[in-house]
Amino acid sequence: MERIYAPLTPNGAQTDSIKEQLSRTVDGLLASLPATEQLSADGRRGIIARYSSVLEGNFIYWMTGAYLSVGSEEARSIILDNLREEVRDCHPGMLRRFAIAAQAVPSDSDAMAVYRDLMNVRLFVGRLSGVPILLMMTFFEGFIQRFMAFLAELARLQGSVEQEYTDVHGVCDVAHTQELLRALGAEMTLNPPGPAANLLEGVDLLRTLMISIVQPAVN
Ligand SMILES: [Fe+2]
Repeated sequence: MERIYAPLTPNGAQTDSIKEQLSRTVDGLLASLPATEQLSADGRRGIIARYSSVLEGNFIYWMTGAYLSVGSEEARSIILDNLREEVRDCHPGMLRRFAIAAQAVPSDSDAMAVYRDLMNVRLFVGRLSGVPILLMMTFFEGFIQRFMAFLAELARLQGSVEQEYTDVHGVCDVAHTQELLRALGAEMTLNPPGPAANLLEGVDLLRTLMISIVQPAVN
């Protein structure tokens, strides 16, 4: 997939410039979503199922990768708070309930439809590169807080009234995005990225994965 980002200049890695690039990427992704009323029941089920297949087992893993990658105390403590909330409130269980109620429990073929793009994100996270992973997670939190209305509508059209997952993530991820931006600032101060660093590689890979969740036929 063609990359859509202008490279960040070595010392133009200020939070403001990054924030703007992330929010443009989120806007572009949201604008590419299909109209919910034009989707078939199978199309709606597939999006919820692929989203669940990816997020239920991977979000905490990605965030743990971010934790293992950062060096600043501030970033560590922000990420730990995020992880604590995920585990304490059992967000994977919340997502599983959401998928069950929408009759969209992931199947083998749902997992296969996102396999390659998910693997690319996993391999990227495995490189444990702090600033790029934090950027990826900040992008993701910014995306899902606005994606939740779409996901909730799909579930509603599936006849579900279970909306705890979408309610919680449409609200709590506003604060998470702000906190992760703060973590990013702290980490960039501690470990200024080199001129050749492709800071947005993870954002790019995760964006591609989100597209394969929403529009599997396109990939
Ligand atoms: Fe969560």
